[in-house]
Amino acid sequence: MNDQPRRRPATPHRRPKKDPVRFLAFEALRAVDERDAYANLVLPPLLKKARAAGDFDSRDAALATELVYGTLRRQGTYDAIVAACIDRPLREVDPPVLDVLNMGVHQLLGTRIPTHAAVSASVELARVVLGEGRAKFVNAVLRKVTADDFDGWVARVAPSYEDDAEDHLALVHSHPRWIVSALWDALGGGRAGIEDLLEADNERPEVTLVARPGRSTTDELLAALGEDNGLPGRWSPYAVRMAEGGEPGALTAVRESRAGVQDEGSQLVAAALANAPLEGSDTRWLDGCAGPGGKAALLAALGAGRGAALLAAEKQPHRARLVERSLAGNPGPYQVITADGTRPPWRPGTFDRILMDVPCSGLGALRRRPESRWRRRKEDLESFAPLQRGLLREALKAVRVGGVVGYATCSPHLAETRVVVEDVLKGRGGAPVEAEWVDARPLMPGVPALGDGPDVQLWPHLHGTDAMYLAVLRRTG
Ligand SMILES: C[S@@+](CC[C@H](N)C(=O)[O-])C[C@H]1O[C@@H](n2cnc3c(N)ncnc32)[C@H](O)[C@@H]1O
Repeated sequence: MNDQPRRRPATPHRRPKKDPVRFLAFEALRAVDERDAYANLVLPPLLKKARAAGDFDSRDAALATELVYGTLRRQGTYDAIVAACIDRPLREVDPPVLDVLNMGVHQLLGTRIPTHAAVSASVELARVVLGEGRAKFVNAVLRKVTADDFDGWVARVAPSYEDDAEDHLALVHSHPRWIVSALWDALGGGRAGIEDLLEADNERPEVTLVARPGRSTTDELLAALGEDNGLPGRWSPYAVRMAEGGEPGALTAVRESRAGVQDEGSQLVAAALANAPLEGSDTRWLDGCAGPGGKAALLAALGAGRGAALLAAEKQPHRARLVERSLAGNPGPYQVITADGTRPPWRPGTFDRILMDVPCSGLGALRRRPESRWRRRKEDLESFAPLQRGLLREALKAVRVGGVVGYATCSPHLAETRVVVEDVLKGRGGAPVEAEWVDARPLMPGVPALGDGPDVQLWPHLHGTDAMYLAVLRRTG
């Protein structure tokens, strides 16, 4: 018997090399798909871990973020392109393979990464996470994708605008068709406006800070950010934009809750409610849906300067704790309670001003949550409808005669905005209420394109804000 040690067969392939940036982006995409995770929650801890491990700098973090967000946002378009490059239905492609493919398509068609680098990095990633056989499939598909650029591909795979305008826009701008339809209904107008809006949803929003009045100033924030990064807000007197991004928590004022991260639209809504004209007492303010506390903190700071106390109510205890945190240190009186605004613990007629920033589909913040457009279903709107009406009805009971209620959503969908307010005012599905519209447009001075009133709809493509809606009502009897 030959007792010579056997020679191991020669390895047919070299070991695949793990590229930490693509590997991390793939991990994040898998978490979003498999665990229904949110990219904006999954990514930061992964990036932190990679940084701590030592081989990840800020450029790597920026690339990983771009790969995850870009791939998720453009998923609808990229799926259609991949489908055109394979000879079986897309649903038969395993989700991890599709993630590698879509991330490869994003590098090829949505970034400046050179073609050969985009293909070879994707194939290498596929070898690491999928194995040799599937890596060949990835290679073959991506080589087909290199045959054209983004515009060329959408011209091939999208129906023409003339044949089916909504399907065309859905595919070109990567939104589900029902969302295109709903946004277009709310926006009105022709092709240019809706195209601008859909594209704005595909852009990464600037980080905007709020200098809570009486606690911090825009000058303090601008000085802390420096000339290169700090820009004044467009509309809100309390806003500062971080032009180059970065970590807001590094600013002392943010760490001390004297300032915070808050979209300018959200600032405008809180300030508008505080600015609504009111006769008589003006000391008891309520935020009835306060979590996580962005608008509550601005309202409390504005109220403190005017001798008003804020009651911030939130149904979810963990979100009520976030409200506590953002209000901590407010110079005026405030209280945070866990309460259900549809079965409120307060008496009718208690408050002078109330904000009801109700739970909604979030269709106005698609640019912040890249995966949400694919998760939301049309049916979700029906589940919010009774709650939105119930919260508004209770707010109109809780305000004193002559007091004002602001009904706000982070959605422009008509079924969540004007239809809710009109239903409640007309007593549809509940007792009639005695209230009248207040024109909200003058409450946002200097902000253009606010529509025909009396309510206000902000838009990402027109105002650079989330698509926040605000109706202001005054109780008349
Ligand atoms: C759109 S968010 C409010 C955002 C908040 N105003 C801000 O600016 O940070 C809606 C909030 O209402 C809360 N909520 C849901 N149902 C509620 C209810 N019945 N009563 C009170 N709060 C409720 C949700 O938990 C969520 O925190």
